[in-house]
Amino acid sequence: MKRIQYHRYGGPEVLQLEEFEPRRPRGRQVLVRVYAAASNPMDWMIRSGAMRFLTGWRFPRGLGHDFAGLVVAVGDRVTRVKVGDEVFGATLTPGAFGESVIANERWVTQKPANLSFEEAAAITIVGGTAYHAVVNIAKLRAGQSLFVTGCLGGVGRAATEIARNRGVAVGGSCRSTAAQEARDLGIDPVVDFDFDPAPLQGRFDVVFDTSGVLPITAAQTLVKPGGRIIDIKPTLGKMLRAVLPGPYTFNSLPSREVIGELARAAEAGMLRQPIARTVPLAEAIPALAEFENLGGSRGGKLIVTTR
Ligand SMILES: NC(=O)c1ccc[n+]([C@@H]2O[C@H](COP(=O)([O-])OP(=O)(O)OC[C@H]3O[C@@H](n4cnc5c(N)ncnc54)[C@H](OP(=O)(O)O)[C@@H]3O)[C@@H](O)[C@H]2O)c1
Repeated sequence: MKRIQYHRYGGPEVLQLEEFEPRRPRGRQVLVRVYAAASNPMDWMIRSGAMRFLTGWRFPRGLGHDFAGLVVAVGDRVTRVKVGDEVFGATLTPGAFGESVIANERWVTQKPANLSFEEAAAITIVGGTAYHAVVNIAKLRAGQSLFVTGCLGGVGRAATEIARNRGVAVGGSCRSTAAQEARDLGIDPVVDFDFDPAPLQGRFDVVFDTSGVLPITAAQTLVKPGGRIIDIKPTLGKMLRAVLPGPYTFNSLPSREVIGELARAAEAGMLRQPIARTVPLAEAIPALAEFENLGGSRGGKLIVTTR
């Protein structure tokens, strides 16, 4: 089997397409023959070593979390999926950019029949992160309001859809040239990246900073008294700020199982991510580097196919 992996932290040049021996799944683990995998900014954040205080020093490391494919083996405690199931999900131990990957069944479920493998591969990390912020942490209800920075990014789109589907009013920031696309998603008001928060003072129950660059003073201006500010771009400083009293919360991936919710939403037509480019595994390393240079999902997801 082949997969993209690396032997030290660094830039895109550390990535190599190499042979690897998939191990047998244990306990609640599932071995999936990957058909499609999707890129996320956390792939290159981890590869660069920026999160080494969390990710450690064991090499070689695989790359990529989101995948869709076919279950080929299961551990002895797996109950939710079986060999032969078409599934989608995410691995928390990177390695989705390969011909096979191991994931815990908590993050894997049957692929809705109305989604292609490519579409299904794009959902889990952005959808799970957005669902956790909007539903588990913020507990937003109909009639409340949410401000999303980076509202046209992967997590931003998913958060907007989940919130609007619950009757929550959504405002957001995006690149000024894309403002109409944001309005078409029902986002109002739509503001530019370097907007002045003063006219929107105290208007939102929750501010969800998916870009991770909103100044804390701007977030504090936007949020209502007693509201919440949620950030997902990990730095040690932000994690420490989140444990202090106040409105600031750091959003990690959900510990509660959300994959079933994501599958139901996707089957109903929600959570679809635009796909910017699809490449085979053999051409994926330069495509991943280009995608990283662009700074993320501008125009949609990068999908790597392996069949
Ligand atoms: N904590 C967690 O568990 C977790 C989970 C998933 C993701 N993340 C992190 O969350 C971030 C977003 O992920 P994603 O998948 O949504 O990435 P993405 O698809 O690349 O979206 C990022 C969005 O932010 C926008 N943006 C760039 N600069 C901005 C600015 N100055 N102000 C407002 N928006 C700006 C981008 O716009 P343009 O495309 O126009 O540049 C893009 O729409 C990443 O850093 C990722 O690593 C964390």
